Amino acid sequence: MAERIGVLTSGGDAPGMNAAIRAVVRAGIYYGYEIYGIQSGYNGLIEGEFQPMNLRSVSDIMSRGGTILKTSRSKLFETPEGRARAIENLKSLDINSLVVIGGDGSYRGARELSRESSVNVVGIPGTIDNDIGCTEYTIGYDTALNTVRDCIDRIKDTAFSHDRCSIIEVMGHHAGYIALNSAIAGGAEACILPEKPFDLERDIIQPLVACRARGKKLFLIIVSEGAYPSYKLAGEIQERMDITPTVSILGYIQRGGSPTVRDRLMASLMGVRAVDAVRNGERNVVVASRAGEIVTIGINEALEMKKEISPDRFVANSILSL
Ligand code: F6P
Repeated sequence: MAERIGVLTSGGDAPGMNAAIRAVVRAGIYYGYEIYGIQSGYNGLIEGEFQPMNLRSVSDIMSRGGTILKTSRSKLFETPEGRARAIENLKSLDINSLVVIGGDGSYRGARELSRESSVNVVGIPGTIDNDIGCTEYTIGYDTALNTVRDCIDRIKDTAFSHDRCSIIEVMGHHAGYIALNSAIAGGAEACILPEKPFDLERDIIQPLVACRARGKKLFLIIVSEGAYPSYKLAGEIQERMDITPTVSILGYIQRGGSPTVRDRLMASLMGVRAVDAVRNGERNVVVASRAGEIVTIGINEALEMKKEISPDRFVANSILSL
C-alpha cells in the first residue's frame, strides 16, 4: 500500500495557500504517495473530515485566494483530548505524515501532535503577516502587500485632491512588516508599528508641522493594527492641529484576492519541498525561505527563532517621505 500524507490549512487564510495545496497533492502523487485533504484545519482533523485527493482535485485553484480546504483556529486541538481524537483519525487511515500550512501557532499544535504520536509533521509558512521567525518569507505576504499598496494609491489620489491627512490601518497581528513595507512602497509620511515605541509629538505632530512648512499638504500615516488606535490618533491630531484626518481601516480586504506571482511561486516550491522532506525521511520540520533558498528546519529550532525588522527601513522611510 502506498504511504499516505495528510494536508491541511490552519489559522488565518492567506492568498497562495491553494498553490501550496496543489503542489503537495501533485508532487505527492508524482512520487507515489496517497494524499488526503483535511477540511477546516485542526477541527476537521478532530472530526475526521478527510478526503482523498487526486490530480484533478487541485485543478484550477492556483489563481484563487483563500483555501479550498478551508481553515480554522481550533481551541479543541489545544487540549490533549482533541489531539487524541485527531491522532486516532490519522491512525485509522494510516496517515503517517501531516503537512500543515499556516503560522507558528499552527506549528505549535503540530509539534504537540508529533510528541504524542508517531505522526511526522511538516510545516509550510502561510500567513499574510510575515511574522514567522524561522523564515524570511511567508505565503500570502506579497499579495497582501500589493493589495495594501493599491489601497494606499487610491486613498492618496483623493487625499492629494483635498490636501488631507489620512490614516490607513493595516493588518499584522503583532508584527509591523505589512505596515512598514507598505509605507515605504506607498510613500507614507509616517508609520506606527508594534515594534517601535510611539510618541505622538515626535512621530506625528512635529513631522506633520515640518511637512506643511515644506509646502507638502498631503500627510499619510500607516498604522499597524493593535499598535495604536486609529480613531484615537485622528482625534489627537485634530485637537493639536485643527485638521480632520480621514481613517480607513483596510481589514479583511488584505486577506483575499488572487495571489501574486511571487506567492504562487513560493507556495509551489515550498509545497514540493515539503513532499521532498517526507521522501528524504526528514522528521518534524518546517519549510522556510532563508537567504533566497528553500530549506527545512527542525520544528523545535524553528519555533525558537526570531526575526526583527531592520532599523534601516525606518530611516529609509523617513528620508524618502521628505
Ligand atoms: O494572522 C493573520 C491575520 O490576518 C492578522 O493580521 C489578524 O490580526 C488576524 O489574522 C485576524 O484574523 P481572524 O479574525 O480571522 O482571526
